[in-house]
Amino acid sequence: MSDLAYAAKAIREGRLVAFPTETVYGLGANALDAKAIRKIFEAKGRPLNDPLIVHVCPDWLAEAGNGAATPHPYLEALHRRGIIGALTEVQQARLTRLINQFWPGPLTLVLPRGEHIPLLVTAGGNTVAIRMPQHPVALALIAASGLPIAAPSANRFGHVSPTTAQHVRDDLGERVDVILDGGPTSIGVESTVLNALPDVPIILRHGGVTKEQIEHVLTLPVLDSRALREGDTAPLPSPGLLERHYAPDAALHILPDFAALLAQWRELTASGQAVGLLLTRAQASATPDLASAQHYILGETLEDIARNLYAGLRALDSAGAGHILMCALPRLGLGAAIMDRLQRGAVRSK
Ligand code: TXA
Ligand code: MG
Repeated sequence: MSDLAYAAKAIREGRLVAFPTETVYGLGANALDAKAIRKIFEAKGRPLNDPLIVHVCPDWLAEAGNGAATPHPYLEALHRRGIIGALTEVQQARLTRLINQFWPGPLTLVLPRGEHIPLLVTAGGNTVAIRMPQHPVALALIAASGLPIAAPSANRFGHVSPTTAQHVRDDLGERVDVILDGGPTSIGVESTVLNALPDVPIILRHGGVTKEQIEHVLTLPVLDSRALREGDTAPLPSPGLLERHYAPDAALHILPDFAALLAQWRELTASGQAVGLLLTRAQASATPDLASAQHYILGETLEDIARNLYAGLRALDSAGAGHILMCALPRLGLGAAIMDRLQRGAVRSK
């Protein structure tokens, strides 16, 4: 039996399979089977109030008619299968645009929960988050199992997400029945989570699809959940917006610029601390005495930085750094997702 056929069988039998997506590795189980879903929470040590994303593929959705039709044939098929609930015409039109533009890809859509989705998947809520990943292995697994697959990132709860199969082994080891290895992931930060159901759509988590791209497709301004959090005591619109998340073991410091980074590096090093630096290639070539500095080079562009960030955090952690230093980035394009992860990773446990 091929690895893929074995993994698909494991999903059908209610076991856990870690698999690559274009963003990060996921820890998957049959989204229609509450018993299988419970195993995900146990393996990760994840609280039950943090809902999961359900992954779907074109093969079993598309008795697809015309992709330009409204509602999109995927929406119809998801509804028919009891994965999502009813939508208004306005919602259908908007979601059709988003699906045509971004699926398969790193955009997760919050939709009304269908009757076949167990409440454990949605943390008791009336909405379910759906995403069609772009990775061939993920799509092949969903197609071969014939099931929607609920999958959070395949890391210990609160830890840095995995971008290689080895990261999954390091975090979860024997807790996973099967790990499909598809090499390092290409995007490196998680999907964008968007609730496009209300009049004003809201980004609940920044990720691989940018706010600017979404606004362009919808020709509408989109709210940013960060704006809602500032000084706000209202309940979080997405439980995944827990403060400390995506965290390395080391203390993570985000410095406003390169001069501040060098100053902090000198100060910590002088006081005997083990320091690791996350640097762009340009910063690395400008760092005096780089040879003596524990460092990891992220590359040059925002795409490079997103792709390499989690591997860099893990590498410096394993190298024994007590402190990790990196410069802030502009919150534009992918910079918003990167800064979001860095800031959460930098919140010390209280
Ligand atoms: O890129 C990704 O999205 C990866 C890969 C594996 O697909 N998955 C991932 O899952 O990052 P996870 O569980 O680590 O993050 C899911 C996020 C959380 O912030 C969660 O709160 C939010 O999605 N979420 C899930 N269901 C939701 C819902 N019904 N309403 C609002 N937020 C939801
Ligand atoms: Mg996660």
